[in-house]
Amino acid sequence: MLFGKKKSVAGLDIGSSSIKMVELDGKVNDLSLVSLGYENLPDDTIVDGQIMELNVVSDVIKNVCSNHQVSAVQVVTGVSGHSVILKNIVLPAMSREELDESIDWHAEEHIPYDLADITLDYHINATTSDSTHVLIAACKRERIDNIRQAVQLAGKQPVVIDVDTFALQNCYELNYQPDESQVVTLLNIGASTMNVNIVKGTRSLFTRDITVGGSQFTDVLQRSLGLSFQQAEAVKRGVSHAVEGVEEKSIEPLMNNVTEIVAMEIQKTFDFYRATTEDNQTVVQKILISGGGSKLKGLAKDLSARLELPVEVLNPFRNINVDSKKFDP
Ligand SMILES: Nc1ncnc2c1ncn2[C@@H]1O[C@H](COP(=O)(O)OP(=O)(O)OP(=O)(O)O)[C@@H](O)[C@H]1O
Ligand SMILES: [Mg+2]
Repeated sequence: MLFGKKKSVAGLDIGSSSIKMVELDGKVNDLSLVSLGYENLPDDTIVDGQIMELNVVSDVIKNVCSNHQVSAVQVVTGVSGHSVILKNIVLPAMSREELDESIDWHAEEHIPYDLADITLDYHINATTSDSTHVLIAACKRERIDNIRQAVQLAGKQPVVIDVDTFALQNCYELNYQPDESQVVTLLNIGASTMNVNIVKGTRSLFTRDITVGGSQFTDVLQRSLGLSFQQAEAVKRGVSHAVEGVEEKSIEPLMNNVTEIVAMEIQKTFDFYRATTEDNQTVVQKILISGGGSKLKGLAKDLSARLELPVEVLNPFRNINVDSKKFDP
């Protein structure tokens, strides 16, 4: 940049339960954390990725930015939910220009929406002498407009709207710099949804969204122990003596039941993956979990035992300079 101050960019994650914001500064491989913050959203502000209360969302974005000194004006954010469609498709060998010209036509048969109503993007995953492997991403245009509006109302400039699953994959690549042979599963455990992405090197092989998440644990505690939402959340987070009269030993089996469902869904995803890809020799070596749900104590260890695979919590700052005087590690 020739004139003016250097511009930094903030990453914004609009989830169903909270809004998260991160501001980074510097160059790739020499990035520093500038600010980090989150704020909860009231229930039903966002339902299946759709913003129901535009003003609430923009107010919360404003609050997060002012409470955590986020100064960047430019914002990168993402979309998720049922209106986002990701497909790996195999096409005949063709040049990039030919693909550019024909992608709408090829995508049409894979996307259950009218092409006029969607925004389409694609990425060439691999090419062989007779085929082109393409990942297509489509999202209802109104969803993207909806998010753009919320960001603009908050006084920010939405410069990139990615798919949440790939924003997480970018974060993984930046922090783990995987080599081509590494196969991991990125598992984002949100409040209402888990996003699964099986990645080989830097190539996404398979994605699936599962409507199970952290709130399932809270729900079960709430219903089975007759607690309020806040009480159940506190019990889940292991706040000791959170609620009088709740016995430690009644909690564990309830939590285990939900962990079992989570593990089963991941296993099912692996089975789907093997059944639907030609490259079914690829074996997942590790699962990296992220999202608020991944903070559940013991979850990584439990999933690892059930799935017989290493499971680790993804470190989003593994390759980013973090001033420990400023940020709680
Ligand atoms: N310390 C903790 N221990 C256990 N669970 C936690 C902890 N902190 C947050 N959670 C859970 O994480 C979930 C929220 O995660 P996250 O903020 O990633 O969701 P979201 O992005 O708002 O939701 P979604 O991605 O489904 O739209 C909630 O269910 C919350 O109870
Ligand atoms: Mg989320």
